[in-house]
Amino acid sequence: MTLPDLPVSDERTHELVRLELPEEPVRLDLRELFGNENPVELEIGVGKGRFVLLAAWSRRDVNFLGVEYARKYLERAIDRVGKRGLANVRLAHAEAFSFLRDRLPDRSLAAIHVYFPDPWPKKRHHKRRLFRPEVVAEFARVLRPGGLLRAVTDHPDYAPVIREVMGASPDFEDAGRDPSLWELPGMGDYTTLGVTNFEIKYRREGRPIQRFAWRRR
Ligand SMILES: C[S@@+](CC[C@H](N)C(=O)[O-])C[C@H]1O[C@@H](n2cnc3c(N)ncnc32)[C@H](O)[C@@H]1O
Repeated sequence: MTLPDLPVSDERTHELVRLELPEEPVRLDLRELFGNENPVELEIGVGKGRFVLLAAWSRRDVNFLGVEYARKYLERAIDRVGKRGLANVRLAHAEAFSFLRDRLPDRSLAAIHVYFPDPWPKKRHHKRRLFRPEVVAEFARVLRPGGLLRAVTDHPDYAPVIREVMGASPDFEDAGRDPSLWELPGMGDYTTLGVTNFEIKYRREGRPIQRFAWRRR
């Protein structure tokens, strides 16, 4: 099944989906933002929005926040979600670490999704990698106990770094490799080829994909 199979709605929710952040670093009131008390999940680096659209379409009783710092991709994601009339998604033009640190309250998230984070292979760029101790400390602060952090990468050098940085945190335990962790409710046929654009592309190319999941203690 492909995304065009998801019907476009008469209702447009682009303006609701686009989350404009104020200049000053004020933490969000997520209950007020979504207008309900449903659990909130965050996707970091939504790209063109395939995952967040499918997840929000399939699970209307969950709220999805997404951040993306490439404006062009963000606009594509907002359009994909907005023209399907979804009201349970908010997407912001933001850098992930500062968004976590400045915008999210303690224990406010039920899950975090990080699919194909940029590997920054050059040594002098390693400090830009998302999986670094100060960011993991923010993951721990914003996740509720029991909340899951899921990450997927194809990158053979970055995968062990992700494992090491997460493994060094006393706040997370490895949730294991059980495939049921990856059965995303209601997403059925859409996920056969992969949950994101990058996963579909890389699987077609035959690259090995590594999936990780950790649980907030
Ligand atoms: C390799 S792409 C993967 C996109 C999508 N998750 C997928 O799997 O198809 C990585 C995306 O994350 C975004 N990104 C990388 N680092 C980011 C950060 N620190 N804050 C926000 N977005 C980020 C990039 O702009 C890019 O769109």
